[in-house]
Amino acid sequence: MSLEYKLKGVSSLALQPGDKQEVEVEGLDAKVLLLNAGGKVQAIGPKCTHYGAPLFSCFNSKTGDIEDAPGLDALPVFKTTERDGAVYITGDADTIRSGRRKPNFKCTATGGDKVVVVGGGSGALGVVEGLREKGFKGAITVITSEGYLPIDRPKLSKALLTDLAKLQWRDEEWFKSGSVDIVQDEVTGVNFGTKTVATKSGGKFAYGKLVLSTGGTPRLLPLQGFKVLGNVFTLRNVHDVKKIVEAIGEKGKKIVIIGSSFIGMEVAVATSSGNDVTVVGMEKAPLERVLGEQVGNIVKKGVEAKGVKFYLSAGVEKAEPSASNPSSVGFVHLKDGTKLEADIVILGVGVAPATEYLKDNSVVRLEGDGSLKTDESFSVVGLKDVYAIGDIATYPYHGPGGGGKYVRIEHWNVAQNAGRTVASHIVNPSLEPQFFTPVFWSALGAQMRYCGNTMASGWDDIVLQGTPDQGKWAAFYTKGETVVAMASVGMDPVMSQSAQLMQLGRMPSKTELKNGLDVLSLGPPQLAAISNVWQAHHARHGRMLQLGKTLHQKYGPTVRVGPNEVWFDSSEAFKSIYSVGNGFDKSGFYLATSLNKPTIDWRLKLHFPDTLDFLSEFDIKRYRLQRRLIGPLYQTSNLRKFEPAIDDVIDKVISKLRSLKGAEVDLKEWMHIIAVECLGAVVLSWSPGYIQDGSDAGTSAQGYLGWKRKSVFGLFPTITAAAFFSRSLGRTFSNLWGVTFKTPKNFKPFFTPVYQKTSKRVAAALRLNPRQQTKDAGRKDLLADLIQLHKDRPEFTETYLRRLAMTNFGAGHETMCSALTSAMAMIGSHADAQQNVAAEVRDAVPGPTSYDTAVRLRYTQASIREAQRLYPVIGMSLSRTVPSGGMEAHGCYFPSGTTVGCNPVALHRNAEVFGPDATKYNPNRWLEDRQDRDVDQIRQMERYNLIWGGGSRTCPGRHLAEMVLFKVVPSLLKEFDICVTHMPPEDDIQYYFMAMITGVKARFLPIGLTAEI
Ligand SMILES: Cc1cc2nc3c(=O)[nH]c(=O)nc-3n(C[C@H](O)[C@H](O)[C@H](O)COP(=O)(O)OP(=O)(O)OC[C@H]3O[C@@H](n4cnc5c(N)ncnc54)[C@H](O)[C@@H]3O)c2cc1C
Ligand code: HEM
Repeated sequence: MSLEYKLKGVSSLALQPGDKQEVEVEGLDAKVLLLNAGGKVQAIGPKCTHYGAPLFSCFNSKTGDIEDAPGLDALPVFKTTERDGAVYITGDADTIRSGRRKPNFKCTATGGDKVVVVGGGSGALGVVEGLREKGFKGAITVITSEGYLPIDRPKLSKALLTDLAKLQWRDEEWFKSGSVDIVQDEVTGVNFGTKTVATKSGGKFAYGKLVLSTGGTPRLLPLQGFKVLGNVFTLRNVHDVKKIVEAIGEKGKKIVIIGSSFIGMEVAVATSSGNDVTVVGMEKAPLERVLGEQVGNIVKKGVEAKGVKFYLSAGVEKAEPSASNPSSVGFVHLKDGTKLEADIVILGVGVAPATEYLKDNSVVRLEGDGSLKTDESFSVVGLKDVYAIGDIATYPYHGPGGGGKYVRIEHWNVAQNAGRTVASHIVNPSLEPQFFTPVFWSALGAQMRYCGNTMASGWDDIVLQGTPDQGKWAAFYTKGETVVAMASVGMDPVMSQSAQLMQLGRMPSKTELKNGLDVLSLGPPQLAAISNVWQAHHARHGRMLQLGKTLHQKYGPTVRVGPNEVWFDSSEAFKSIYSVGNGFDKSGFYLATSLNKPTIDWRLKLHFPDTLDFLSEFDIKRYRLQRRLIGPLYQTSNLRKFEPAIDDVIDKVISKLRSLKGAEVDLKEWMHIIAVECLGAVVLSWSPGYIQDGSDAGTSAQGYLGWKRKSVFGLFPTITAAAFFSRSLGRTFSNLWGVTFKTPKNFKPFFTPVYQKTSKRVAAALRLNPRQQTKDAGRKDLLADLIQLHKDRPEFTETYLRRLAMTNFGAGHETMCSALTSAMAMIGSHADAQQNVAAEVRDAVPGPTSYDTAVRLRYTQASIREAQRLYPVIGMSLSRTVPSGGMEAHGCYFPSGTTVGCNPVALHRNAEVFGPDATKYNPNRWLEDRQDRDVDQIRQMERYNLIWGGGSRTCPGRHLAEMVLFKVVPSLLKEFDICVTHMPPEDDIQYYFMAMITGVKARFLPIGLTAEI
């Protein structure tokens, strides 16, 4: 049960971005970590769920998410409240105490493709948990020779633990709950032809997909004495540790450790207390191969402080039996004649990939070191349905400096992330594998962290930051100007940030670091944490397309774009925010689009009149009633009767464009002409005369200036609210931001005649003006329907009626213009798409395309939808307010009142939803009969987009708009070849909340006349 607990000694949530503070929870023997991650203050479990180490990037330290190993469990994120000078968290006592929550694993396997995993280590865990988390429902069998369930292997050398209860990651029940069969046996061979795995005890296991994850076998020293004498140990599993612990017994032993790399150094530290420990290494400094001599010596100092002695640059000659027990080791001889007394020898001289069972297999070719070569998704090269992960996998490395060179990395997190990559690939093979930054850690007196890798590139220099004397340092390993890896002690956030920057390919250069750049200063937009000015600045300059394209690329799926606003780019967040019934109402942004002036009560709460203002309606009850009332009129079944009116417009457009004989036109203006003319014809049986004039009289350009203003104002709801009551405040603010615009002399907005005509007809119909009534009696337009609706259903008030008549134009003219422009610009600038559309539309009868025919033109439909995806009509977040109870996404908790949303530009280019080529215009992605198209992916694309808005606030005019779009595009393509003569660079396209591709010039070349023109 969730309860509220006070945090000891904390009076406010005012933490600076990047700051963190571990605090005690009153009444529980527990701590939480308060941190300002990416500008958002939250309380999370205080320790890495893997090792109880302080948080670093075992998961995304910003979100607490688990997808990056080593942390298997997710970090719980608790709701925080600041009240009366104290801070409280809300959560369940057990979860707060344990500081972890388990991932979603439960499953009843329902057959399907069976996955067999060989090995029960880190990689295996990554695969099985990844498969179940990603919804895999097939059977899973894990075959392991270790004799127990998967353990936390790194603990072995750090604490010499033998208690399985403390070492095993999950208990038996856990695996059962996820329908994972664990078989304790040793695999002796694989038949890749029959897809079966054979085991030592005679078992045979058929697989649909096989994951090999058998880890490493410790190397022995091929020198005299080491293979035959007792008390010489290697360290890989609990059986090994048990032997070592037994041999150490009551301590006081002389322990010689051969090998000064990580395992050797960790065991030295772990055994140093109460024993006499000596490390023998070939290198000049411990860990020199990985960390370099300088850093190795810093580490050495710390380990020496624990009483450990070193023999470095040393060669081992032989092991000599003990005088008292000739079957056991007594001495180690070094090549320089040194004789070291040894009760126990521990070898840390590396591991070889454990692939013995494949050595004689004629189908598979092992690499020189015994590993298996894989591609980026860890599929074994040359084999089908077989993956290799972890210590046995040699895979192309795409981290900094990697360039796709093949490496084999023996890290816990690499094995587990490779496992999760495989799980993704099994569940959805079309998903492009995501690069993950290798992360490593070690207990060397102090906790050391390491990220990146130097195997592919090597390194030629180190930039050292911090104060090594005080045990705080960060070493950046560079090759040329590229930072390929970094290690740190006592500076965890630096390592965490570096891992993320490497992931995003945004690590600063060697020179920048040398000049003292602090990587922690490179977080998400810093200014955004303090003020909306940052976003407003971009909005004012129409840079929303660029922002949508780049922001999440740089900073991940959750980005704070204002003190109280977060943008998301994920299906997970989409589901929370835009699912009907989740209670995410429109945010204060929509105050700026309000058509009415509100009143204000004594609590400063705004109340808007009940006039039907769909876009800005905050009263959800009213809104629902209004939508219910108008619903039937906006269904295709009702709208079909307006087809002749649209056809008439199309005919006129075609003949006007023909008369231009291919002259260059402004595409947006022409699409605006078509949009307004279609709306005029459908709603009012009226034409503004734009086709005849070949001009929209500047109305689209003028309207767009209005959106520039609204986009800035929307980001300052308080100012917008105040501006309702103080015009001068509004003016001053508008001037300050440079969004005031003038109406040109003689400007004739089409809204004036629309308003006049609507008023006249409504008055006539309702006030029973017989003369006007007879004139209107024959009209079969949408206004006639709306008038009838008012007569039939008085709750559809006259105010609603008048307002909705206008809304058709207000909400429809720019959106339809935008969608038509996107579609024509894309088709016109992609020859293959145009060819396909033309082929599809041109064998039908000439003239306007009927709606029935239009919806069967599958390629044409796909090319329209694809254009709407890439260039949606809304360029900023469709922002909503988090309801009471808060919201959780990506492991973060967002309190009630936070403004959240997805920016359609970003979401529509999300590779997870739309595929690896999401940034490309490719109508084929929507076509189900394409062989490489996965129907599930199409469903996913249909679900996670904001083309028509989201949740309960989707576009009520969709069917009307679609009728126009679906008819106009094929009708034009039937008559013209579209030649886009100027497509502005994307950086020059101005996108506001309302967004359209401005600046496109095109020629409509009548077919047949193309050659002549
Ligand atoms: C003592 C120690 C400390 C370490 N410390 C760290 C650290 O601090 N940080 C870090 O990043 N990495 C550390 N590592 C490395 C890390 O543990 C490995 O890189 C990681 O475990 C590799 O995962 P894996 O799944 O490839 O193999 P493993 O975890 O080794 O699992 C292999 C599994 O396969 C089983 N197996 C092998 N052959 C067969 C067969 N024929 N049939 C059936 N089962 C088989 C084994 O019994 C085992 O269960 C450490 C390793 C050791 C040994
Ligand atoms: C291709 C053309 C169109 C597109 C792509 C489109 C898209 C959208 C989108 C994305 C929204 C959600 C906005 C938000 O949540 O902030 C929306 C809302 C709306 N649309 Fe459309 N629209 C189009 C045409 C029309 C037309 C012709 C009408 C006329 C009736 C219309 C009426 C509305 C209204 C009233 C809303 C507000 C609904 C609400 O907030 O709940 N739209 N539209």
